[in-house]
Amino acid sequence: MCAKGVDIGTCFLVGAELKDGKEVFTMERDAFFSMPNEDFAEDMLTKAGAFYIIKGEQIYVVGEDALKFSMVTGNQKDYRRPMAKGVLNPGEEEAISMMEVLLEAVVGKPAYPNEVICATMPANPIDAEFDVVFHRMVLERFLKKLGYDVKCINEAMCIIYSENPTVTINNEVLPFTGIAISWGAGMVNFAASWRAKKLLEFSCGRSGDWIDRQVAKVRSVPVSKVQSHKEKYLNFDRIDPTDQIMVALEIYYEDLMRYVVTNIGQQFKAANATIDEPVEIVIAGGTSKPPGMVDRFKTILREIGLPIPIKNVRHAKDPLKAVAAGALIAAISEEKKRKASGGGGGEAPAAAPKAGKAGGVPLIS
Ligand SMILES: Nc1ncnc2c1ncn2[C@@H]1O[C@H](COP(=O)(O)OP(=O)(O)OP(=O)(O)O)[C@@H](O)[C@H]1O
Ligand SMILES: [Mg+2]
Repeated sequence: MCAKGVDIGTCFLVGAELKDGKEVFTMERDAFFSMPNEDFAEDMLTKAGAFYIIKGEQIYVVGEDALKFSMVTGNQKDYRRPMAKGVLNPGEEEAISMMEVLLEAVVGKPAYPNEVICATMPANPIDAEFDVVFHRMVLERFLKKLGYDVKCINEAMCIIYSENPTVTINNEVLPFTGIAISWGAGMVNFAASWRAKKLLEFSCGRSGDWIDRQVAKVRSVPVSKVQSHKEKYLNFDRIDPTDQIMVALEIYYEDLMRYVVTNIGQQFKAANATIDEPVEIVIAGGTSKPPGMVDRFKTILREIGLPIPIKNVRHAKDPLKAVAAGALIAAISEEKKRKASGGGGGEAPAAAPKAGKAGGVPLIS
């Protein structure tokens, strides 16, 4: 039995599957680079072993190679991204076609007709005009066209599945119960879960890309320079006060954290949702990667407070893969359900939940 998970992100696409009982991940940068198909362009790309496609008069270099190409040529204008703020980029005419090329490269064809794939989707943003319906429908249709049986699942809930936060009540340990926050490029996604059931979800339309843009503005440097400086050197335990980019990064990171914590509080209140038992918060996503980020978040959490009790805050084992790993767990669970009910979906006997281990997976509704 197979099944796949795919984390469809603004910065990275991450596919996950089991090979010989082990989780295997395929990562691709969610980007492309366009150039006219003239002279020896194609020859040069073939020799370089680049991943590209030809469409009309244009060549599109796709994925990680697009970034390399943009760096080597110093051309940032033609470095483009199919997604912005967590969804298909409305300002990018090639968004859908490039996303299809990238998605197929990451997940491949199904191993058999109707293999289950769980694809991650953001929650609707609380601070933007758009919803995620168009994004979801387009990607769902494409994965179906490839031959998959598609299930769309919430991005932050995937962290709950892979990291298994727990709550203990009267010596009973409740699995898949807690809070997960995915700090991505386009969005911060939040979910609260009780025994693998989603209690509350939302997203904010700002995260790593927003930080890069704000810092670039106040320091008058290119966004790409800020991003690369941030990814290489940012360490919250050692901020160099003479490094102007670092100082601005620290300021905007803190601003983002305050914004997220404030919104979590407001969303709990607005939904009239409460949790009485102290819960764990699990943090994942690329924006959570700099050393000291989780401690900084804890400090801001203490400062602002939340309307629910928090037991502890911890970092996911692998912040860039936690979402895809959870999508795979959900896909395996779904495939089991379908098998048990003769392939038609419906209820199946509960499997014993065991975090992060495909094989003993939660049944996810
Ligand atoms: N070491 C690092 N330090 C700081 N930021 C990092 C680091 N590595 C990656 N990032 C940032 O993390 C973001 C990408 O994270 P991630 O892959 O979780 O996002 P995504 O899933 O593609 O986006 P989204 O979930 O918002 O659609 C980018 O903003 C990137 O600059
Ligand atoms: Mg993400």
